[in-house]
Amino acid sequence: MTDIAPARPSRRRRSTPAAASPASTSPIRTRALTKRYGDFVAVDVLDLEVRTGEIFGLLGQNGAGKTTTILMLLGLTEPSGGTARVVGLDPARRPLEVKRRVGYLPDAVGFYGNLTGRENLRYTAELNGLAADETEERIGHVLEQVGLAGRADTATDTYSRGMLQRLGIADALLKDPDVLILDEPTTSIDPIGVVEILDLLRSLVRDRGMTILLSSHLLGQVQSVCDRVGIFAAGRLIGLGTVPELAAQFGGAAAHLEVAIAGDAEVADDPATRALLASFDGVAAVDWNAASSSWHVAVSPADASGRVREALLRAVLERGLRLTSLRVLEASLDDIYRTAVAGMAVAGTTTEVGQ
Ligand SMILES: Nc1ncnc2c1ncn2[C@@H]1O[C@H](COP(=O)(O)OP(=O)(O)OP(=O)(O)O)[C@@H](O)[C@H]1O
Ligand SMILES: [Mg+2]
Repeated sequence: MTDIAPARPSRRRRSTPAAASPASTSPIRTRALTKRYGDFVAVDVLDLEVRTGEIFGLLGQNGAGKTTTILMLLGLTEPSGGTARVVGLDPARRPLEVKRRVGYLPDAVGFYGNLTGRENLRYTAELNGLAADETEERIGHVLEQVGLAGRADTATDTYSRGMLQRLGIADALLKDPDVLILDEPTTSIDPIGVVEILDLLRSLVRDRGMTILLSSHLLGQVQSVCDRVGIFAAGRLIGLGTVPELAAQFGGAAAHLEVAIAGDAEVADDPATRALLASFDGVAAVDWNAASSSWHVAVSPADASGRVREALLRAVLERGLRLTSLRVLEASLDDIYRTAVAGMAVAGTTTEVGQ
């Protein structure tokens, strides 16, 4: 974290409160939301609720229906069925009001290439009716937040893809919204930049109470930043909850252990240890991790993990091995996701993700 400033509390007052009616306390809510393109169902009776002050990750492969859902939430495409409420408003009927209140990063950002980053933001500020006296300060602040202050005054047609994506996030933050919807916010951003952007999102929620919905197919990032995750496949929400809740729900998912035994580092990938670990009932895979000089043991089903650990400890005692580390690794969203999607295919709901 070097060049990203913390979020600051909103200084502007709004004439309308965040929730327009008591029935809509969740800033984003859908009921049986559906989008059909001809016979093809892109979003299939989606019930979704994003709560105030959380980062919600919409996770799914290419073609799962993430962008289509987001477009309906912003009133940019009309639902074929069902309803949506965003900041208490129906985006299909009041798209302009929703857009005024919700920061949005589209999956492909578009800026005027001959204008600088700062000039593009001035244009957005004008469109959003930002008060002229606070525009310049606000623009400077969001440019710093996304780490673009140093390039703010060069034309955007000289920007890299990652820089354009950062400018897109600055653009979404400009109106200091209560709700932020980000369609694949980090796909073009380098690894260090990703950490900065994810830190920025967390600080917006922590310091500013913002509600964030983001879509992504990058499981590690979703796991690291999102409070809750919706797993989306072929237009359907097939899993919903925190990562531990999802791990419990998709109980078939593997558990993972990290095992280190003194002496193994000298004989990397020692076949004897590999055979020993693989012999325990429940072990699905054994991999030598050279970087950490340890074994990665996948256990399936996940609840066999305790049994495997006991068997390992017995073997260690019997053989006089020196166990230097035995760690249960956190459930990975990657496994959960695979199990969820595989379960969906088995259930016969669909086998195709992405058209
Ligand atoms: N205008 C359209 N006409 C017909 N089909 C469409 C249209 N827009 C989207 N689709 C289809 O709807 C499905 C969902 O697309 P969507 O863009 O929502 O997926 P996504 O989850 O955002 O994928 P990605 O990760 O690639 O961005 C896809 O099969 C896509 O081909
Ligand atoms: Mg998309």
